[in-house]
Amino acid sequence: MKIAKLAVDISFSKNYNGLGTFMIESAKRFAWACNENYCAARFLTVDADVEHDKGILAFYEKNGFIPNAELFNKNRKTISMRKDIYS
Ligand SMILES: CC(C)(COP(=O)(O)OP(=O)(O)OC[C@H]1O[C@@H](n2cnc3c(N)ncnc32)[C@H](O)[C@@H]1OP(=O)(O)O)[C@@H](O)C(=O)NCCC(=O)NCCS
Repeated sequence: MKIAKLAVDISFSKNYNGLGTFMIESAKRFAWACNENYCAARFLTVDADVEHDKGILAFYEKNGFIPNAELFNKNRKTISMRKDIYS
């Protein structure tokens, strides 16, 4: 299950921490719920946008993502990552 866009509006990020982490946790729980019915999801995936924020890998790693091995991504504007929703 792929996270296509993940962002916290600046008006919220000024006042609250943890919203990005909360959204990832919500996506994980949504995937679990889908698995109760009609899906067989094992991973959340994301293309981490390192072009605009070099620190973004640290955010995803803190949330349990690891980089995928990539054979054809020489430009490295994004880094493909995954999170096992059952570990
Ligand atoms: C990335 C984003 C969604 C994170 O949301 P957030 O609510 O600030 O994240 P959290 O408060 O849950 O952060 C969890 C941890 O990650 C760290 N972290 C968050 N954003 C980070 C960043 N850009 N670089 C490095 N570390 C980051 C926090 O410091 C926190 O660390 P701690 O647990 O040691 O205190 C938000 O900053 C955002 O909207 N960024 C702009 C859009 C973007 O870059 N989206 C990702 C595109 S792939």
